Amino acid sequence: MMASPLKSLVNDDSRYQKSFQLFLERSSEHQCMRDFIHNMLPDILASIGDGKSHLNIIGVGSGAGEIDLEMLSELRRKHPGVTVDNEVVEPSSQQLHNYRILVSQKQDLDYIKFTWNKMTASEFEEHWKAKNMTKKADFIHMIQMLYYVKDPEATLRFFQSLLDKNGKLLIILVSGESGWGKLWRTYRNQLCNTEISQCVTTADIKNFLDAKGVSYRNYELPSQMDITECFTDRDEKGELLLDFLTEVLNFSKTASPELKAGVLELLRHPDCSVESEGRVIFNNNLGVIVIDQLV
Ligand SMILES: C[S@@+](CC[C@H](N)C(=O)[O-])C[C@H]1O[C@@H](n2cnc3c(N)ncnc32)[C@H](O)[C@@H]1O
Repeated sequence: MMASPLKSLVNDDSRYQKSFQLFLERSSEHQCMRDFIHNMLPDILASIGDGKSHLNIIGVGSGAGEIDLEMLSELRRKHPGVTVDNEVVEPSSQQLHNYRILVSQKQDLDYIKFTWNKMTASEFEEHWKAKNMTKKADFIHMIQMLYYVKDPEATLRFFQSLLDKNGKLLIILVSGESGWGKLWRTYRNQLCNTEISQCVTTADIKNFLDAKGVSYRNYELPSQMDITECFTDRDEKGELLLDFLTEVLNFSKTASPELKAGVLELLRHPDCSVESEGRVIFNNNLGVIVIDQLV
């Protein structure tokens, strides 16, 4: 009998969001993004818009919007007085709800008109094409989401085609040099369900852009994740983190003993992690890629 295929974590939004939340608590993921947003992004944002007083933004896979709002406030600092049309593309109703609550709690967002698109990136693409939209975007971002589309290259091409003059497309994914890159290079065939989750890193995106002759800028953001709990048998949080790392629903309970042992061994291998003061610290380095309008 063939072993039943592992189920993707993405199929269970409630467990996905729970494991993502725990990942945020155990990692410097959002902190390293904030550092980038405050130190590097302002110069990138300064160059968009071509002097217009109204800017169109699209956020793809925005989650609960914490990072989006930080970017929007840097944008406002660089372009005081502009109004913003912000299209949010997010399939999880729970996350959209959280984003709306966050917006309702903030002051000074009157310059932004939010459009809530409860849909995936490819549904958004269909919807956009069906409506023959001619609107162009000044800034599009896809942060930690290209794993969840069927064809990351086609998705990039579509969103790049929406950029206006001086527009920028910002992509953040795990770096090819991260522990994730090592994990996926080793276990891609066992772990990645290419229909719904891709083990894609910025190294893959750079290869694709280089092959197409598309120029881009890129940055590496150092980041860490504490995965110590993964090594305690039947630890509930450890199991959630393992689900997030492997993108497999209930990995500990459904993977074969060999696969589980192999993944656990690799996760604490020096290629992926450092051990310090009894903690196992996984390399969660991120890569940022910034692409211009297609010429
Ligand atoms: C790892 S979270 C990142 C959230 C946010 N960008 C951040 O960095 O905090 C991935 C997000 O992508 C969303 N997502 C999943 N599949 C998607 C798809 N096909 N198109 C657009 N977004 C998707 C998920 O619901 C989730 O909110």
